[in-house]
Amino acid sequence: MRVFKNIAVTGGAGFIGSNFIRHIFQDKQFSGRVINIDKLTYAGNAESLADVQNSFSDRYFFERVDICDFKAVKSCFEKYDIDCVIHFAAESHVDRSIHGPAEFIQTNIVGTFDLLEVCRQVWGGRNDTLFHHVSTDEVFGSLGDSGYFYETTPYDPRSPYSASKASSDHIVNAYHHTYGLNVTMSNCTNNYGPYQFPEKLIPVMLLNMLGEKPLPVYGDGMNIRDWLYVIDHCSGIWSVVQNGKIGETYNIGGENEWTNIDLVNCMCELVALKTGKDKEYYKKLITYVKDRPGHDRRYAIKCDKIKSELGWNQSVTFDSGLSLTIDWYLNNQSWIESIKSGEYLLWVDKNYTGRD
Ligand SMILES: NC(=O)c1ccc[n+]([C@@H]2O[C@H](COP(=O)([O-])OP(=O)(O)OC[C@H]3O[C@@H](n4cnc5c(N)ncnc54)[C@H](O)[C@@H]3O)[C@@H](O)[C@H]2O)c1
Repeated sequence: MRVFKNIAVTGGAGFIGSNFIRHIFQDKQFSGRVINIDKLTYAGNAESLADVQNSFSDRYFFERVDICDFKAVKSCFEKYDIDCVIHFAAESHVDRSIHGPAEFIQTNIVGTFDLLEVCRQVWGGRNDTLFHHVSTDEVFGSLGDSGYFYETTPYDPRSPYSASKASSDHIVNAYHHTYGLNVTMSNCTNNYGPYQFPEKLIPVMLLNMLGEKPLPVYGDGMNIRDWLYVIDHCSGIWSVVQNGKIGETYNIGGENEWTNIDLVNCMCELVALKTGKDKEYYKKLITYVKDRPGHDRRYAIKCDKIKSELGWNQSVTFDSGLSLTIDWYLNNQSWIESIKSGEYLLWVDKNYTGRD
């Protein structure tokens, strides 16, 4: 098992990154430090890790840095003696990539390149380091009614988001083959769970239900996604970082396919149970809207490799994961308000001003 002392988590203030940092601090075997490198775009909220900061103030550090700022990233590496990078930072919302692709090219491609360059320059030929790249199943394109994505499936991205992620995946692999950088990679299906910015399907539907607003479903609602509880994604990444083969990619998935419309109906029923309202009350809010351009029809992944090689498995059923997620949003209205209004930046100023 690989052991690292100073792990840089990029994008650690985002949805999956913040869950990941909390997850590894719960691992009793882990005694290293985590340096959260995050620019705090609209999607990042350093306050999501206030509990970690309180409990692990000697091992958790936050640096508000843009991964495209080569000098600033390099000085983080030198300041903390980084020996592992787990790279989450990205522009991550497909709809935003359709309206404004430039940020996606900048952060997802140029930013990943900058990080790799820092690793190459600072680490040189060291063999006790690792760059783990967090990627998506969307790089593989769209499936018909049958079939799955495997690690060997050729890339066929369709949106500016997936194309930018595909591009960064190729650059990561190129740095391994060309410069001998120790890399691992994971491609994962759709995540859901606490701390997800309220623009993605599950939090949008949930908050609209609670606000009695229309529930917008794209096209005919028959697009299929494979859903994985975020903590299961985090445990998969952690197992690849510790034990995955260098230079290899691992698919991580939920093996849990849902059409969008079935998922929204299921959420209506669960939320009705929790709020005591009739499920039809929520279902009546469902509104079909014009489809997203280039909307991939179906994603489904085979994750046998990580299961057989690393012993990873999903641990949270969809019923319980969805229920936990709904409860979390119901109990964390202040987080939702602060991230939607940008108020969290005031919290950052208050807590981090003057901190080097
Ligand atoms: N959400 C999913 O379902 C899913 C599935 C598979 C893979 N992924 C991948 O996982 C990663 C994390 O996704 P997420 O859903 O947590 O995203 P997110 O949008 O919630 O968080 C992204 C984080 O990156 C930060 N960031 C953005 N640009 C930056 C920059 N230039 N410099 C430094 N920080 C920057 C943001 O401030 C934010 O904290 C992404 O790489 C994404 O492609 C996500």
